[in-house]
Amino acid sequence: MPEDFEVPLEEGKIYLPDPEYRENAEFKDYTSAYREFLHDQDGFWHRIASELVWYEPWEHVKIWEYPFARWFEGAQLNITYNCLDRHVHDSRRNKVALFWRGENNRERIYTYEHLYKEVMRFANGLKKLGVGKGDTVCIYMPMVPEQVIAMLACARIGALHSVVFAGFGASALNQRINGAQAKVVVTADVSRRRGKTIPLKPTVEEALIDAPSVDYVVVLGTQETPVELVSDIEVDFHELMEDVAAVCEPEIMDAEDPLFILYTSGTTGAPKGIIHTCGGYMVGAYYTTRKIFNVTDNDIYWCTADPGWITGHTYVVYGPLLTGATIFLTELTPDYPDNGIYWKLIEEYGINIFYTAPTAIRMFMKVGEEWPARYDLTSLRILGSVGEPLNPEAFEWYYEHIGGNRCPILDTWWQTETGMHIITTLIGEPMKPGYAGKAIPGVVVDVVDKDGNSVPPGTGGFLVIKEPWPSMMRMVYQNEERYRKYWSTIKNCYTAGDLAVRDNDGYIMLLGRSDDLILVAGHNIGTAEVESALVSHKAVAEAAAIGKPNAIKGNIIKVFVTLVEGAHPSDRLTQELKYHVRQTLGPIAVPAELEYVDTLPKTRSGKIMRRVLKAQELGMDLGDISTLEE
Ligand code: WT7
Repeated sequence: MPEDFEVPLEEGKIYLPDPEYRENAEFKDYTSAYREFLHDQDGFWHRIASELVWYEPWEHVKIWEYPFARWFEGAQLNITYNCLDRHVHDSRRNKVALFWRGENNRERIYTYEHLYKEVMRFANGLKKLGVGKGDTVCIYMPMVPEQVIAMLACARIGALHSVVFAGFGASALNQRINGAQAKVVVTADVSRRRGKTIPLKPTVEEALIDAPSVDYVVVLGTQETPVELVSDIEVDFHELMEDVAAVCEPEIMDAEDPLFILYTSGTTGAPKGIIHTCGGYMVGAYYTTRKIFNVTDNDIYWCTADPGWITGHTYVVYGPLLTGATIFLTELTPDYPDNGIYWKLIEEYGINIFYTAPTAIRMFMKVGEEWPARYDLTSLRILGSVGEPLNPEAFEWYYEHIGGNRCPILDTWWQTETGMHIITTLIGEPMKPGYAGKAIPGVVVDVVDKDGNSVPPGTGGFLVIKEPWPSMMRMVYQNEERYRKYWSTIKNCYTAGDLAVRDNDGYIMLLGRSDDLILVAGHNIGTAEVESALVSHKAVAEAAAIGKPNAIKGNIIKVFVTLVEGAHPSDRLTQELKYHVRQTLGPIAVPAELEYVDTLPKTRSGKIMRRVLKAQELGMDLGDISTLEE
């Protein structure tokens, strides 16, 4: 880990939202809200949790046995009761729960009642396949309503879902299926992107070659031509829902029972299966959606993330349904059929809250403000950003051209591991472009040196969380050591892996990862994953991956490769290697640049010094290279 370092603090423009926002916000004033939380932390969470429906109340709000926390112990619940039944039993029965838009203007609309019924049927279908409480179901699907239905159906019966983003390749999928010992895989024939179809089923078939835990594959047909089911383990999604009971009572879950596994890239070749639990996750998702994002049940809310990522879990699916809002979901990408499609959709559906990633915002900037200018975006009330730092230029553009110089922007910092927002600027508080903001009421955050001492404003350090929070991960699946490492890297706190700096007002700016993860278009890619994909090619001896700053994507991946004896650099080989990474890990992990080298810089103990490659590449100071081999 590097030592702490000075960061020049520039006084940028401060944006003050209209006072009306503060009046309607949950928290009228940050300082007093935060103080109130600190004064009685358990009382704070007790009050929030009490807004949801539980079968049994908790005996303790939290039990903290460092580094293991248990939240709402003794309580029983089912998250889908809070997402569905609760609304169906009151006035929201006929309200739209989900609008979905596909290519060629295809649209599907689910009311709460309809979604509830579909979830129950699919849940009964899963039961028919032998899935029960504690089993794992892998969901590898495009962004269609059935993806949401499949997730909720798992939660209904107490099965864990492990959603794998459909952009991952066969080997990444295989690793995740085996890692979680999935009993059933739910997939679709194809996904659609920019007018083309991308087959998913063949990828699943390949991923299943060595996956002994899988009993069945449920396949959703999304095209005119029916899906061809080639083996007797394959089941049609809709047929599975046909001969089953209409009602599926929710499984009664203990607060600390696992709700899902979600894999995230690690600093080693193997991804980490992050475990979230039923009670704490529900409270965290509800709290932040309702009170930080201020999603009310009158809102039409659009988070552009794929449910295959944590952002999709918390802020496409669970959070908004827990608040009884209307979700907007689409398989459309922002540039197809043209660069105005997102703004057209906002106008058409009257979207009130829009949550996206800096990469997308920078792409919108590049194609020009004439696109949003063609549409009426006045329905928008609140904007959000997540995944990587929102640079001031992008903030300003988003504020002016999308938010009409009116909407607060919540730049939300959080992680798969945190399950919910941790840092942002509360609605109504002054916004500082480039700074995400402060710890939200409910969490305690600090910027520290490697010994865990707070560093002063203007000094960079490690971002840490100092107290447990309800939606914190409970475990890294079958890897307690890895879990413990989060809480032991710096003593007495959770180390996030990000570098940060605070200004004199306590606003936090995120400075990127301090470990071997690369944030590409807001997605975490482990250098080790890319490297092991490359060395699995017969021509490659060794590989080192680094992140290289990029104006649109935040970072791109550059790899340095040494070849085995007899192999020679060529454009053809470069293409082949990129293709190989695409096949193994998927398109999101393909290196944009590949350079052949004779040797890689290493420490005396043989560890590749990516830091040195990066400094060289960017023309920066090489830093401390005393451990360099030669
Ligand atoms: C990492 C977590 C949480 C959903 C998306 C990614 C980076 C996330 C921000 C932000 C600066 C951010 C961090 C973090 N990150 N949001 N607002 N500003 N950086 O989830 O894949 O678990 O990645 O994304 O580096 O540690 P994830």
